[in-house]
Amino acid sequence: MKKTRICNLLGIDYPIFQGGMLWIATAELAAAVSNAGALGIISPLAAMERHGDSSKNLKEQISRARDLTERPFGVNIPLDLQYSGVLIDIILREKVEIAVTAAGNPALFTELLHLEGIKVLHVVSSVRQAKIAEASNVDGVIAEGVEAGGHNGIDELPLFPLIPQVADAVSIPVIAAGGIADARGVAAAIALGADGVQLGTRFIAVEENIASLKYKNAILAAQDSDTVITCRRLIPTRSLNTEFSKDLLKLEESGASADEIREYLGYSRARTGQIEGDLIKGEAYCGAAAGMINDIIPAACVVQRLVDGYQEVIKRLSCSK
Ligand SMILES: Cc1cc2nc3c(=O)[nH]c(=O)nc-3n(C[C@H](O)[C@H](O)[C@H](O)COP(=O)(O)O)c2cc1C
Repeated sequence: MKKTRICNLLGIDYPIFQGGMLWIATAELAAAVSNAGALGIISPLAAMERHGDSSKNLKEQISRARDLTERPFGVNIPLDLQYSGVLIDIILREKVEIAVTAAGNPALFTELLHLEGIKVLHVVSSVRQAKIAEASNVDGVIAEGVEAGGHNGIDELPLFPLIPQVADAVSIPVIAAGGIADARGVAAAIALGADGVQLGTRFIAVEENIASLKYKNAILAAQDSDTVITCRRLIPTRSLNTEFSKDLLKLEESGASADEIREYLGYSRARTGQIEGDLIKGEAYCGAAAGMINDIIPAACVVQRLVDGYQEVIKRLSCSK
């Protein structure tokens, strides 16, 4: 697989990211991905106990990732957490190499992070957001389509029209996220103008992921139409169509207010679903490409399959008349 400008910018071999996943993107997962030549990204609450200390947890995750890999890795900071500023302070002190900010204003912390030599990538879901991120001097954008597992942009734009429009609108590197689970998706994203890809759901069904086996198996069992979008009154969220999602949709259809939905969601429902495997009481975020995921393999094998498969796709394209 050819290096793109994002590889040179971040010092990675392949333009493939494992996306941040709040409770489950641990140091072990990120290091396995980074050691395979792609970019692993850790999340501040990864493996944390319910009501744990997120600052302490993030420091431990960073330290463990440094023990497990000498390659670059990133840290994802959702900017909509009450304590996002405290987490940013930790990555400034720890001088991690790469910050991936999301769900907030990229102008808030980019300059501070740059002063410490930290590269900043920001997650966007529309051309407007991508332009704002570029004007805030971020080093690249991760453009995420509505196919993605977890929180989506309010415009719910699909990846195919999103990537070319973002690539035309900004001059910084664009990473495509959402609905990519194999090499065909990687080649398509590059053809659409992306400089790389980010995968989330595919990296749940890997050996190093601490996600519960029940959740992983539910992803393996999922077919093309087994994910749904809930929470449109708060933030559109793509998950498996579990009992939890069905009840939530019923509540929304009954006309529940944003506050009532917030109250229903409560705290750490994602932990309940994803780590504890309780798919009745907990959220099971999952991307629309789940139907393409059929095995639990080491994270390095996911990376290698994408790299090898990409060459085959390119060969097939150049042979076709
Ligand atoms: C379980 C789960 C949790 C996620 N949590 C976060 C998060 O905390 N921050 C973030 O920026 N993106 C988060 N995402 C989005 C991923 O980083 C990634 O962009 C997305 O999963 C890509 O789409 P895919 O799931 O179709 O591969 C999450 C996705 C999943 C599936």
